[in-house]
Amino acid sequence: MKYILITGGAGFIGSHVVRLFVKSYPNYHILNLDALTYAGNLENLKDLENQPNYTFIKGDICDEALVTNLFSNYSIEGVIHLAAESHVDRSILDPHSFVKTNVIGTLNLLEIAKNSWKDNFEGKLFYHISTDEVYGSLSDESFFTEETSYNPKSPYSASKASSDHFVRAYHNTYGLPIVISNCSNNYGSHQFPEKLIPLFINNIKNNKELPVYGEGNNVRDWLYVEDHAKAIDVIFHKGKLGETYNIGGFNEWKNIDLIKVLIKTVDAFLGREEGASDKLITYVKDRAGHDYRYAIDASKLKNELGWEPSLQFEEGMKKTVQWYLENEEWVANVTSGEYQKYYEQMYE
Ligand code: NAD
Ligand code: TYD
Repeated sequence: MKYILITGGAGFIGSHVVRLFVKSYPNYHILNLDALTYAGNLENLKDLENQPNYTFIKGDICDEALVTNLFSNYSIEGVIHLAAESHVDRSILDPHSFVKTNVIGTLNLLEIAKNSWKDNFEGKLFYHISTDEVYGSLSDESFFTEETSYNPKSPYSASKASSDHFVRAYHNTYGLPIVISNCSNNYGSHQFPEKLIPLFINNIKNNKELPVYGEGNNVRDWLYVEDHAKAIDVIFHKGKLGETYNIGGFNEWKNIDLIKVLIKTVDAFLGREEGASDKLITYVKDRAGHDYRYAIDASKLKNELGWEPSLQFEEGMKKTVQWYLENEEWVANVTSGEYQKYYEQMYE
């Protein structure tokens, strides 16, 4: 049995990755290490509780003793590292916690993986999950490729860029087998309702204002989270050591246009008249240092490893809206911290 350590597996993307790996690979044992911050919820993985090839460990990636013990107790052959502080607005308010988890936490994992594997790197892999935001901001033309220079502009993207550099430095300096992917904005079920799509679905449902930053002209490239998880599977198994792969949805939207689609979709599900919720759009002060446009050229991944997004945006959006509308209790419990309280009793 091959032990794979997935960090941040109780979060949005991590929970989809854990589920895909536990279900697709019965010959792997998945260890999910997650600190269960406000963004992590075991409720996201309730369906896996009794799977024999899955173990949850509550803990911080910065905890040297805990991570060292994990590597001593299990013969871990692969790491898929997703644990992070992930929200740009929070990083503007509290950059320190981003440096702690995203930079120091990543360094801790790298150091322990290197020390545990150093006698034989053969068959081992440290796979670091990152973001396209490390490349900075685009104007209306061009795309981010794997060759684009790093130019992070928010405390979040600066911390992710730093972690990417450490991962490459460990490959270059110590020969640690690594691979990195940088992905565009994800959407889908189980995303904490502070990010644009789940926040706005919830607000539309509850007739609350939709705070559009600036003029709503910023552009993001959206990818359905299960397609991201599939890309991670492909890169984990087929990616070339030392390489970077960009992952994107080939699906750019101006915020305000995306918000209009969201309103239309939610209103249709709720049986409201078309346009009924347009009045909720409220233009507010722009985010400080708001990156104008992100757009990924994912052709390397397509040409070399054969991955492409499989779900059309309209279909993905419908599935996403339906999930949030049908899971009101999840939304209420993650935002009030109820699930955290519940699982804390079990793991402390
Ligand atoms: P998330 O905020 O939903 O989940 C993060 C998870 O990490 C949570 O379960 C949290 O409890 C855990 N965590 C946080 N700090 C920890 C620590 N110190 N020790 C252990 N666990 C800790 O994030 P997400 O959106 O699922 O993003 C996952 C990864 O993907 C991140 O590395 C992020 O940078 C990257 N990414 C996200 C997006 C996106 O659109 N969400 C796009 C590209 C890349
Ligand atoms: P977000 O989901 O926070 O992701 P990111 O900042 O990592 O791209 O935001 C997506 C876009 O939506 C971004 O341009 C900021 C904008 N936005 C708003 O206009 N209002 C909001 O309340 C939020 C959360 C985001």
